[in-house]
Amino acid sequence: MELLIYPRYEEMSAVAARQIADLINAKPDAVLGLATGSTPLGVYRELVRMHLEEGLDFSEVRTFNLDEYVGLGPQDRQSYHCFMHEHLFQHVNLTPRNTHIPSGTTRNYPAFCAWYERRIEDCGGIDLQILGIGGDGHIAFNEPGSSLASRTRLKTLARETIEDNARFFDRKEDVPIYAITMGVGTILEARHCLLLASGTSKAHPIAQAVEGPVTAMCTASALQLHPHVTVYLDEAAAGALVSHEHHRWIAANRPNAPRTDTWWQNTVDAVEYAGDTGVHQR
Ligand code: GLP
Repeated sequence: MELLIYPRYEEMSAVAARQIADLINAKPDAVLGLATGSTPLGVYRELVRMHLEEGLDFSEVRTFNLDEYVGLGPQDRQSYHCFMHEHLFQHVNLTPRNTHIPSGTTRNYPAFCAWYERRIEDCGGIDLQILGIGGDGHIAFNEPGSSLASRTRLKTLARETIEDNARFFDRKEDVPIYAITMGVGTILEARHCLLLASGTSKAHPIAQAVEGPVTAMCTASALQLHPHVTVYLDEAAAGALVSHEHHRWIAANRPNAPRTDTWWQNTVDAVEYAGDTGVHQR
């Protein structure tokens, strides 16, 4: 896991968005896994800016959203369909047939979920998956107790999640109690995961996910098993990490971080040489 801590949400969002843009520029038909919630909004704003000002081209990009509320149609204001349209899709040149969001109104959930999984596979798998984290440590809508091998399916939302997400609805009673969500196993198959968290309310779940045991009671902790995860945090979300200073040191001294002293240069040479011979020394 690579942890990057930024002073402010805006800075963290801009760097994460740049990483996504670099992927799109390198692979124009990249497959992105998209998340909803307030946390990725800064990333979406920045991607829209890059599209408008720098010509970032989404025309061949394919997207898959993590989840949708059961019972809400694409026109419902609180649906994730509507969210994605409002915050990203309508502002960039994504091709509509290349965007996928689970259906909250299908008549056959098992068949739809199986199709969604097949569709991801047919597109070659997800290159980069954006993730937020719930107050109870969930990723997508994989609530505590979800199998760490789970696939796309129908899930009952935890009470804490219903309360957390009530802010997006007129009344708490309007929050659906079921959702269709990619599974933890589905998410772990993405080639690169970006976990974003901002604010003090995320400090505890982030500490559990990063420093706690891998457990189904905090499904974000399953990311510890993934070979390529970047965690983007602002200072507030990093506030409960015991290993805060350790992660700062590691991030500042990444092999690709700019350094000038000889000790560092020798180390890099050794790493490069090891790479040449195929031997991993670190
Ligand atoms: C919902 C979504 C998650 C998201 C979480 C946190 O539960 N299903 O994907 O990570 O909300 O949302 P926020 O970023 O608004 O805190």
